[in-house]
Amino acid sequence: MAYVRKDVSTLTRTERQRFVKAMLEVKRRGEYDEFVRTHIEYFVGDGEPGLRVAHMTPSFLPWHRRFLLELEHALRRVDSSVTLPYWDWTRHRTATSVPWTTDLLGGNGRRSDQQVTTGPFAYAAGHWTIKEGITDAKFLTRDLGRSRDPIKLPTQADVRWALNDPVYDVSPWNSTVRRGFRNKLEGWGIGHGSSSWHNHNRVHRWVGGAMLTGASVNDPVFWLHHAFLDLQWTRWQRRHREHRYLPARPPGPDNEQHRRIVARHERMPPWDVTPDEMENVGRIYRYA
Ligand code: CU
Ligand code: CU
Repeated sequence: MAYVRKDVSTLTRTERQRFVKAMLEVKRRGEYDEFVRTHIEYFVGDGEPGLRVAHMTPSFLPWHRRFLLELEHALRRVDSSVTLPYWDWTRHRTATSVPWTTDLLGGNGRRSDQQVTTGPFAYAAGHWTIKEGITDAKFLTRDLGRSRDPIKLPTQADVRWALNDPVYDVSPWNSTVRRGFRNKLEGWGIGHGSSSWHNHNRVHRWVGGAMLTGASVNDPVFWLHHAFLDLQWTRWQRRHREHRYLPARPPGPDNEQHRRIVARHERMPPWDVTPDEMENVGRIYRYA
């Protein structure tokens, strides 16, 4: 039977405790840092040559869907009652609402060095030392809302703007496309500065600290954020039943994206799985 992923704001006290405990145990076993390393390794931008499978690419959604399933597996090996909760940032929009409570992910970073000092993932609590970082800092960092140049989280209207696009993705299949559900949700926009970040990207910016880098997985909110994006993909699929993942076939040899993106039936490293196979996961999990 499919298990259920819940809105983090609806978790009971016990469910919160079990989720946090399972995360800390996955970290203690050394498995968590492998997830951080994998994400850093696949943090390839479209300005670089080679295959992009995780970001600035059509497979952004199926790649992260698989990545989430891997972590969820690790959590459920520790405690089979645990599933990944999602953070609905269109509804829980302040630096003190869920998931920023001491019984979940802890609060904002402190002013001097952005170090998170509250909750189970605070460095001083002793269970969450950063080992695979972009900097040498051993502690988790956040700057919720971006204190020196405040930005706001995306709204329901922003999500609707993405969901309303019936086309999954369009050529040239990168960060420059202006149409298509994938990039409207991933959120690469025109120009520089805060108005150019939409949905997914904007939330990474709003959280700040570790979430700004390829090592964003170091902040456990990464999973809650991406679970909410994954939920949007299931909504888009339900809303546009006649539409599917694109491209259906790989771009030809004279196309600039030849061998740089993944078509519907091509495998997504590091796994032996295709976007096609990630489209229907209703037998594994569903969203409450
Ligand atoms: Cu990512
Ligand atoms: Cu992300």
